[in-house]
Amino acid sequence: MYQCILTSIFKSQAHRHDVIFHAILNGPPNAPLHVQISGEDLRNAHIDESSWEQIIRNVLHKKTHAGITIERCSLQEIIKKKHQEGSNIFLLDSKGDYFQKSLVSNDENNLFVVGDHVGLSRNEEGFIMRYGRKLSLGREKYLAASCIDIINYLLDSN
Ligand SMILES: C[S@@+](CC[C@H](N)C(=O)[O-])C[C@H]1O[C@@H](n2cnc3c(N)ncnc32)[C@H](O)[C@@H]1O
Repeated sequence: MYQCILTSIFKSQAHRHDVIFHAILNGPPNAPLHVQISGEDLRNAHIDESSWEQIIRNVLHKKTHAGITIERCSLQEIIKKKHQEGSNIFLLDSKGDYFQKSLVSNDENNLFVVGDHVGLSRNEEGFIMRYGRKLSLGREKYLAASCIDIINYLLDSN
């Protein structure tokens, strides 16, 4: 999760004010938890792993941190909400349609969904596909954090 936060929000010497990072934590004891990090509102965050470990630990213990919210909410609820808000939903999958600028505009309403090291369940994938389309970065399988970096790079060069 730390690596995904890093590649979503941070650039060298700056951070992305137009990115909102969402993570769904499905582990015990309070699953599902939705952690949201707003690039625009984020304050007092360095890029090292131990700082982020402390920040996430704090928010999980209900301490506040500017730009970060936490709530009980499932992946399905977030996807539905984002669809209702008009987001273009893309499920990152090596077997999807190959990334092209004509498919993905440089639009703040894009939501990119990546799985973790295990990948998404069949049910989760089926649910997302009611609202979105699969997008591929090629046949190689990359780390989730690398996919986020590649997407940002491709959108930056639009
Ligand atoms: C480390 S991979 C998941 C590995 C998992 N064992 C699997 O086979 O799905 C993490 C996530 O990165 C995304 N991903 C990895 N390679 C990709 C590619 N070439 N194109 C699009 N998405 C990719 C997918 O969303 C995947 O769930």
